[in-house]
Amino acid sequence: MTAPIKIAPSILSADFGRLTEEIAAIGRGGADLVHVDVMDGHFVPNLTIGPMIVKVAKAASDTPLDVHLMISNAERYLRDYIEAGADILTVHAEGVTHLHGAIQQIRALGAKACVALNPGTGFEAVDCLLEDLDMVLVMTVNPGFGGQSFIESCLPKIERLREAAVARGLDLDIEVDGGVKVDNVHRVASAGANVIVSGSGVFKSDDYAKTISELRQRGKRPAMYI
Ligand code: DX5
Ligand code: ZN
Repeated sequence: MTAPIKIAPSILSADFGRLTEEIAAIGRGGADLVHVDVMDGHFVPNLTIGPMIVKVAKAASDTPLDVHLMISNAERYLRDYIEAGADILTVHAEGVTHLHGAIQQIRALGAKACVALNPGTGFEAVDCLLEDLDMVLVMTVNPGFGGQSFIESCLPKIERLREAAVARGLDLDIEVDGGVKVDNVHRVASAGANVIVSGSGVFKSDDYAKTISELRQRGKRPAMYI
């Protein structure tokens, strides 16, 4: 028996000149979530989009938006992104001073709350918050750019998170983001991840629906993780 996984293509690798068509296409292709990367040129060395484009993305399909904030002072902007249409809102453990307060605020504003961990940040940063979270995002590249190589040494952190969630009886989603493609998705899924972000893996492929389906097939994981 296997447990289902969710596929979240990152629009960072989409054609922004045809953004709404690209979002509609991954929705038709079976994406479970639209992963939206927000960067401020400060927390990460790249600058992408703000709430106005999140609003455009929201209107482009019925697929829920998974908004990943890679910005400094994220707590100042939570309302803006949720009002723009974020269904899941992710803040970085490294970018927020009062992490517990930010999570409470996200939930009070009606979105699901997720905390992201950079490759250099340990499991301990979210250990005492797991009961308050809907999802933890494990970065498997240093955030800032699409198309980077998967960092192998992040795998034990995924295992440790899943073990903790199972031991504590938590219905916790574990998302993996960075360098995940059809050829390595089984590794993150067998470590315990159930939400797969793939940017260049999906948008640089010829057939989005086929790639999404292959990611789902190859990412089947043991039912013990349900
Ligand atoms: C990186 C972003 C990722 C990125 C993933 O900072 O958070 O979501 O778009 O892209 P790929 O799958 O190409 O590594
Ligand atoms: Zn991301």
